[in-house]
Amino acid sequence: MKLFDVYPLFDITPVKARGCYVWDSAGKKYLDLYGGHAVISIGHSHPHYIQKITNQLSAIGFYSNSIQNPLQHELAEKLGKISGCPDYQLFLCNSGAEANENAIKLASFVTGRKKFISYAKGFHGRTSAAVALTDNPKIIAPVNETENAVILPLNDIQATENVMKNGGVAAIIVEGIQGIGGINIPEKTFLEKLAELTKKHGSLLILDEIQSGYGRSGRFFAFQYTNVSPDIITMAKGMGNGFPVGGILIQPEIQPWHGMLGTTFGGNHLACAAGTAVLDVIKNEKLVENAEKVGNNIMNKLAEISSGYEIRGKGLMIGIEFKFPVKELRNKLLFEHGIFTGFSGQNIIRLLPPLTLSLAQADEFIDAFTKVFTDISESLSGKLVF
Ligand SMILES: Cc1ncc(COP(=O)(O)O)c(C=O)c1O
Repeated sequence: MKLFDVYPLFDITPVKARGCYVWDSAGKKYLDLYGGHAVISIGHSHPHYIQKITNQLSAIGFYSNSIQNPLQHELAEKLGKISGCPDYQLFLCNSGAEANENAIKLASFVTGRKKFISYAKGFHGRTSAAVALTDNPKIIAPVNETENAVILPLNDIQATENVMKNGGVAAIIVEGIQGIGGINIPEKTFLEKLAELTKKHGSLLILDEIQSGYGRSGRFFAFQYTNVSPDIITMAKGMGNGFPVGGILIQPEIQPWHGMLGTTFGGNHLACAAGTAVLDVIKNEKLVENAEKVGNNIMNKLAEISSGYEIRGKGLMIGIEFKFPVKELRNKLLFEHGIFTGFSGQNIIRLLPPLTLSLAQADEFIDAFTKVFTDISESLSGKLVF
């Protein structure tokens, strides 16, 4: 049977991974500054993670959500403490899109409304409601098209206010930091104004922290750089360090009823073991603080190398926007220096490493980047004005 061919692939087959490194089937070692698409939070194959999942698997791996599962309470307890959101309620699911889908559905249930506002360059996943609020017409199938989705320019408070004034908005959804859109940070005053507007008009504010959350930004959630308390926070990626775990945090005033949301696999025993192990390591190894320290170090050093690109980011969620397409630069980093990076559009490189990245590993990247950028700049000199 053939695979449905939807992904452009590098000709690399990873067979082993530890910490911030990955090895391919030919034994070549790579520094992982992509984190498997912002998923690897505590480092690949962390011993505590392996032990927790292995022990859990040999006890009980799965049962449905019709029985008592104390592991869900343990996860919720630890997450409440470390995230600084102890009063929120937790609903567990399996992916980012599913988290947003549930958040959207919940906001619609709670307000009795259908209309949602999201922002240009945002990404919220590929399920029906989430994709309708995602600003990429190529991934919106005719069945997903809806007049209930209003996509506005990021940071445009006036445009938001104009739509809100007309009423009927169930919620505004916004990423803590836009990831796929190229590491765009919403202005602090913008997020705070959104919180004000949603309160004023009886709507909810959903913070999509699927990529920017779980310590990546140097705060547990990126919105914690502001004074906002979202009504709903969505999470996935770093939550399971590769095990498919997603979730939503819900303000205490929102009342559940049986059957309101549901999932077969969400919050299963193995997922909880993975999720709890991640939180243990984030806490014990002070990974949120590490993300801030190492991220700042990378951004400062990038700024010293050249002013020929724009650096955006917080913590270990960093975008570098060039005046030329980054394909060659990424390929050189990957094939000549063994460094995985991500991208956004044609001109932006995204760095989304494990939160365990050390200063020495950051320097490994900085050294390689300096060489590759200098080479490419020289070959392009005269064609670009920096
Ligand atoms: C901000 C954001 N929201 C939602 C999603 C969708 O998550 P998933 O691919 O787990 O469905 C992503 C994935 O990249 C994301 O970055």
